Parts: sequence; C-alpha cells; structure tokens
Amino acid sequence: MPRAAITGWGRYVPPAVLTNHELATVVDTSHEWIVTRSGIEERRVSHVSNADMATAAGSEALAAAGVDPSELDHVIVATCTADRQIPAMACYVQTRLGALRAAAVDINAGCSGFLYGLDLADGLIAAGRAARILVVGSEKITPYIDLEERTTAVLFGDAAGAVVVEPATGDEGILSINVGANGALADALTAEGAGTEFIGDDARLRIVMDGREVFRNAVSQMPQAALLAIKEAGLQVDDVDLVIPHQANQRIIDAVAKRLELPAERVYSNIARYGNTSAASIPVALAEAVELGRVHPGDELVFAAFGAGFTWGAAAVRWGPRVEPVATSDLAYPPPDRSALELLVDLHRRERG
Ligand SMILES: CC(C)(COP(=O)(O)OP(=O)(O)OC[C@H]1O[C@@H](n2cnc3c(N)ncnc32)[C@H](O)[C@@H]1OP(=O)(O)O)[C@@H](O)C(=O)NCCC(=O)NCCS
Repeated sequence: MPRAAITGWGRYVPPAVLTNHELATVVDTSHEWIVTRSGIEERRVSHVSNADMATAAGSEALAAAGVDPSELDHVIVATCTADRQIPAMACYVQTRLGALRAAAVDINAGCSGFLYGLDLADGLIAAGRAARILVVGSEKITPYIDLEERTTAVLFGDAAGAVVVEPATGDEGILSINVGANGALADALTAEGAGTEFIGDDARLRIVMDGREVFRNAVSQMPQAALLAIKEAGLQVDDVDLVIPHQANQRIIDAVAKRLELPAERVYSNIARYGNTSAASIPVALAEAVELGRVHPGDELVFAAFGAGFTWGAAAVRWGPRVEPVATSDLAYPPPDRSALELLVDLHRRERG
C-alpha cells in the first residue's frame, strides 16, 4: 500500500492587518482582554474572495511540489465559509489553477476540515486511486463577524493554506491519521444566516458559540486525537519534533503542550498574528514553519485539530527530504484599497445595514 506524503506547501495570508487596538474601536473589548484570554494580537481581513485565497495558496503549494496543475487528480477544499453554497468552491479553484483533469469537491468539518481533507487524500493514495491531490484549507470568516458579539468578534481571521499529497518515494509520509465527531454538541458552535433553514428569516451572518463548552472539549479531544495518532504511528511522544495544532486559542495550544508533556518550543503557534483561521490554520502554520526552518528533513510532525460539529482529528507525518520549494508561484493580487478596519466595517454595514 503506497504511503501518502506531503510534497508541496503554500499559504495566502491577506495583506490587510487588523490589530486588537483597531478592533477595540468598533467592538466593546480591549487589547489586554483579547491577549490575556486568547493570545491573539492581530488578524487578517481579506479583500479578495475565499476562492481567490484558496487559489493563491494552492498555486504556491503546487509550485513548491514542482507539480503542474494539469497533473492533479483531485482538488479538495476544506472550508465552512464558501463564497457560494453551489457549486463547490473547489470548482472555482480547479479552473483558476488550470487543474483541468482534477475532480473537485468541498468538505466542511469546521476547523478540523483540513485534517478531514488530508484523511481523504491519504485514503485515495493508499487505494491507488489517485497520484496527485491538492488539499486546501481556506476561510473567509470575517463576513461572519458580528461587531456586537464581542466573545466571537475578537477570535477569527481570514487565510488559506494548502498542501500537495503524492505517493511517498521513501519512508516519509502520513504515518497515521484519525478523525472523529460528536454531533450531539453541534449547536455549541454554529453559524446563523447561511443555509436554507434561514430562508425568509432576517437572520444575519453570525457565529453563535458556547465558548466554554468549546474550550472544555477542545482541550480534551485535541490531545487525545494527537496521542492516538502518535501511538498508531508506532512513535513515542518524545519522538515528536513539532506539533502543529489548530490555532484557536493560545490557552488551548498551551493545554495541548501540557497534556503531551512537550515543551512550548515543540508546539507551533502563530495565533498572535492570525487569530483563528479555522480550516486554514494548520496548513498556514505548516507552510510558515517550513519557511522559517522549523521543519527539517525526516522530522516527525503531529497535526491536531478541533472544531464545529464537534469534529476533531490528528495526523502523524514524517517529513520528506526536501524543505525548499521546487519553485515559487507568481500569482499575486492587487493590494486592498482600504484598511483592514474599513474592510471589516464595510462588510458589517453591507450585511447588517
Ligand atoms: C471565547 C473565550 C476566549 C472566552 O474566554 P473565557 O475566559 O471563557 O471568558 P468568558 O466567556 O467566561 O467571559 C469572561 C468575561 O469576559 C467578558 N468578555 C467576553 N468577551 C470579551 C471581549 N472580547 N472583551 C472583553 N470582555 C469580554 C464576558 O462578558 C465575561 O464578563 P463577565 O464575567 O462580566 O460576565 C474562550 O471561551 C474560548 O477561547 N473558547 C473557545 C473558542 C474557540 O476556540 N472557538 C473556535 C473553536 S475551533
């Protein structure tokens, strides 16, 4: 059975930066509260569509792998904030990349979506049914921010990340992967305003969350999933060079490190700069970690996620010999014509009048 390996990595983080101080001019909050309770200092607000962000991240991952878009068998896009319900956002990404032979599908598993996508890619490669798969995690979540709801307004940001998955040529690759869900707690983290349930309703786009319930479940499920991935990979926790957890809250990341008994420097965190970018957070963090030299040839990595559903997942991945991209993408968008704060307030006005 061929093992699936990550051969390319890429990310798109929108250029417009929104600091806590700026956010506190339109939301009843403060920089101090946000940093203390979540570790977040700033986030990005996208001036381009979710599909544009996904395409940019995908293009970078393909270049890093040295794979031509026409060689892709599947484009899998994990998102819970698709630009449209129909068709799948992956179809826009497929055509913009020129991945003309590829099947295209979206999956929605909230913040765990990237790991659900990686699980599908792993299965398709192991079954010999595909040889080159692009897995993207991409979220334009800022339109869901309700400036009147301070508990959620401070947490989220926009971004996209992507990986190329191919059969391994050596002993690298996805050593184990597990995903799970508990739909009994579905209403603890949901979004109103999008979906047929809201037809005829004047419900606006907004995230509705029981923060404490999410927190409680995340700090137990993420380490459990990670420990299972480590065990099923035949590894010990001590073998793990770097854990890349979903970036939801620095306190959740710290709890994962504590539960795994790993020092903070072996658990990657960039939440201060991007906030919670949902399905994008792990592939963004991975691409950043590789760029920053935090991932070395042969490193044992662990990804772990938790999100709406509730859903969760974890993977143990042995990195391959290459930490340099084969090439870089030249896809670029014109810069935003407004500040991040103006973009956010404009979205809020258009959605809420
Ligand atoms: C949302 C979260 C940061 C809130 O932190 P918390 O410590 O649980 O805070 P609480 O909700 O208990 O609120 C504490 C107080 O701060 C206030 N508060 C909430 N949000 C605030 C904000 N943005 N600014 C200032 N004060 C705020 C509350 O009103 C409350 O005040 P009170 O004590 O006077 O009633 C935390 O629960 C969390 O991170 N949950 C997980 C969320 C998540 O990760 N979601 C995505 C999962 S993928």
